[in-house]
Amino acid sequence: MNEKTIILLGPPGAGKGTQAARLASECGWPHISTGDILRAAVAADGPLGRAAKGYMDRGEYVPDPLIIDLIRERMAAADAKGGVFLDGFPRTPPQAEMLDELLVELGRSPAEAVLVEVPRDELISRLSGRLTCERCQHIYHLVSDPPRVSGICDACGGKLVQRSDDAPGTVVRRLEVYDEKTAPLIAFYEEGKRLSAVDGIGSQDQVSGRLKEAIGWS
Ligand code: AP5
Repeated sequence: MNEKTIILLGPPGAGKGTQAARLASECGWPHISTGDILRAAVAADGPLGRAAKGYMDRGEYVPDPLIIDLIRERMAAADAKGGVFLDGFPRTPPQAEMLDELLVELGRSPAEAVLVEVPRDELISRLSGRLTCERCQHIYHLVSDPPRVSGICDACGGKLVQRSDDAPGTVVRRLEVYDEKTAPLIAFYEEGKRLSAVDGIGSQDQVSGRLKEAIGWS
């Protein structure tokens, strides 16, 4: 595979971050997560983080212009030249249109999207048990994928924390915002014949296998 732009599309908790990290580490492409970039910006308390924090805490999307600037810069980086996994971007029609324009500017092929499908009750149970390493961002689950030592990341020894936007009320709002603003992207990529869908239920290995097949890498 070379020079592909693969979008992992799906609701909060579908496993986009888990799978993007696995696939990226196997093939050496960067895993570009706008959520991770924004959380790092919030932790650094710079201008982007201060602008984004309130939206994220409420489960709302950060305004498109902020995200578009961030992606433009990240996609121009040297490590993005070979191919990338996009996780959490695009998530609105203007973001998807901007990505198409940017890929033309960069002389790259059009992006392909893979929708990870998971039923709503499973999404809620995944989000309520999620733990994330505050140092390396590795993702765990209290029941389905626990760390070897409680509260400590297996990969780097960092502290595991619950994301503030995984509080039950915020999760409900995030799912509503997904339905309203991101679900229309399914039709956007379907119309361009650039969408495939995989079942997100099963072990992480099973889901990785389905994703690899969907993107022609197996
Ligand atoms: P973001 O960080 O992108 O969050 P999200 O899209 O809501 O997705 P999540 O990270 O919650 O879920 P995921 O699908 O990655 O699942 P995961 O792999 O962690 O965005 C956060 C916020 O930032 C947004 O609300 C918004 O405010 C802002 N933002 C970000 N991008 C933006 C943009 N482009 N525009 C505007 N605003 C933006 O898995 C979930 C759990 O399930 C884990 O515990 C995991 O261990 C478990 N799990 C994974 N796979 C399996 C499996 N196969 N079986 C059982 N459990 C599993």
